[in-house]
Amino acid sequence: MRFFIFSFCILLMLFSFTQKNFDSSYTVYQPSADSLKIAALTVLENNCNECHSKKKPAYYFTTKTMDYFVADINKEVFIKGKMPKGKKNKLTPEDKETLRLWVEQKMKS
Ligand code: HEC
Repeated sequence: MRFFIFSFCILLMLFSFTQKNFDSSYTVYQPSADSLKIAALTVLENNCNECHSKKKPAYYFTTKTMDYFVADINKEVFIKGKMPKGKKNKLTPEDKETLRLWVEQKMKS
């Protein structure tokens, strides 16, 4: 019985160890890309979606559609400088940088 409990403990330790290893290798790679995307989506939601939902619903940005529209976002915001439309709607330098970093990362991949 004692042996059984002992081996059970060893197994448990081994299991939690491998589990942890798996988790940390995951955290090293994915999150930076994900959090950049979430930050970029926040910029799009705060500066683009309100107007787009009324005036240009085909270009409503979500986690799914933003990837698809990356080239258009790049064109309208960074090449032509047309978006966000309207004199009052401006991106702060921080927001613009966040969006630029995400566009750059996305266009490379
Ligand atoms: C005040 C309203 C408004 C805001 C804010 C706005 N848009 Fe637009 N957007 C439009 C309208 C209207 C169009 C349709 C084309 C036009 O009239 O210029 C459009 C078109 C687009 C298009 C498609 C261009 C094409 O080829 O038809 C993209 C991409 C786009 N917007 C991106 C953005 C992004 C990114 C933001 C935020 C940083 C943004 N827009 C903010 C109104 C807006």
